[in-house]
Amino acid sequence: MKNQIKINQTIKSFKKTIYVSSDKSLSIRCVLLSSIAVGKSKIFNLLQSEDVMNAISAVKKIGVKVKKKKNHFEIYGVGINGFKIKKNTIINAGNSGTLARCFLGLCSSINKEIKVVGDRSLSKRDFLRVIKPLNLFGVNINSKNGLLPIKFKGSNLLRPINFFENKGSAQIKTCIILSAINTKGITKLRSIKSRNHTELLLKYLNYPIKVKKTKRFDLIQIEGRKQFNAFKYIIPGDISSASFFITLTLLSKNSEMIIKNINLNPSRIGIIKILKKMNANIRIINKRKYNCEYVGDIHVKNTSNLKSINCPEKLNTSAIDEFLLIFLIAAKSNGVSLFKNLNELNKKESPRLNIAVNFLRMIGIKVVRKKDNIKIFGNSSLNLKKDYHIKNFDKDHRVFMMSVIAALTLGGNWKIDDRESIKTSFPKFIEITKSLGGKIN
Ligand code: S3P
Repeated sequence: MKNQIKINQTIKSFKKTIYVSSDKSLSIRCVLLSSIAVGKSKIFNLLQSEDVMNAISAVKKIGVKVKKKKNHFEIYGVGINGFKIKKNTIINAGNSGTLARCFLGLCSSINKEIKVVGDRSLSKRDFLRVIKPLNLFGVNINSKNGLLPIKFKGSNLLRPINFFENKGSAQIKTCIILSAINTKGITKLRSIKSRNHTELLLKYLNYPIKVKKTKRFDLIQIEGRKQFNAFKYIIPGDISSASFFITLTLLSKNSEMIIKNINLNPSRIGIIKILKKMNANIRIINKRKYNCEYVGDIHVKNTSNLKSINCPEKLNTSAIDEFLLIFLIAAKSNGVSLFKNLNELNKKESPRLNIAVNFLRMIGIKVVRKKDNIKIFGNSSLNLKKDYHIKNFDKDHRVFMMSVIAALTLGGNWKIDDRESIKTSFPKFIEITKSLGGKIN
């Protein structure tokens, strides 16, 4: 079957140093922010995946020139309020919730109608979460049930807002910050903590944004309509992509790995904090600061005595894209693990909480689910022998890659559909896995 892979043997022990793909969140943000900077930005190591290429196509459609050079992209920013668009512009965000939601904020002051569409998975995802704050700014939005396709028309007379972002979503937060940049006056945002690349990039660019941190919330103030200059940025590796290989190494006997040059923003490294609590042998080395972010290498070793966790809820947002892997590790640990309030997991490229529960039960792990809380009864001697077919997961890249890691570490004969799904975030995933000795047909 086309687009299906087969795995029939676990990976042999390895000791390797690798690089993974560049950070997707930072790549999309660099494209969007450089489009409203003044002048030519140079972005090195931009992730060349479908989600990011869709971001480039999107800004080109609103009048931004982009040139691909040998080892960087040049983005010719038009300044705040400088977009030029044609009638009937249609933006295809593909699979990317980050692009679609943030783009609406970026374009909130364009007073011509723009239509945003996405693929099947994105068309099932909730946009009310950004429609509500954008309406408050004064953006006119037309959508059925808060879903794509969306038609929207901004205004150059936006009003600053005072908003409470209560989902812990960086996409909502970024959408609001970008719209605030288009809006005269000061927008105030109280936000449950979530990844803060947008705020840090703006700080690096000397944009007038203030962030006050409290225990649970970030209080953010953005002054609108302040032009900023083009910039240079080198994108580091993506912790979410690195996490597949952290998991592979932890669960592969006698294996060891260094993953180089990874973004280690504290709002992204929930997986490392959680795995350390589970006894995982992980160390950060060469940690350094780069343009308000942290970057470093991750050294991980196979750990045979992993233990269960009662996962602190406050780590949920900083590990939000890694829970499929964390669940897999909990399945191979001693004891019963508990994860709470993971409703947002079902709002991703696929309903990941539902998918994870079915997956774990399929491989013989007991799971008790109560609403958005799950208990995983770990089995450290789990050793699979049966046939497994992973299908119908809305082509969710992270479900595909997690399944590959499960197949290479737990045994059994696996068929996994939708290999192409990796193109959205980590096109080299299979190539790197094979270079470590993974047998994938
Ligand atoms: C992202 C934020 C997260 C994450 C997504 C990327 C971002 O989504 O799941 O993969 O780049 O802002 P939410 O902000 O909706 O939780």
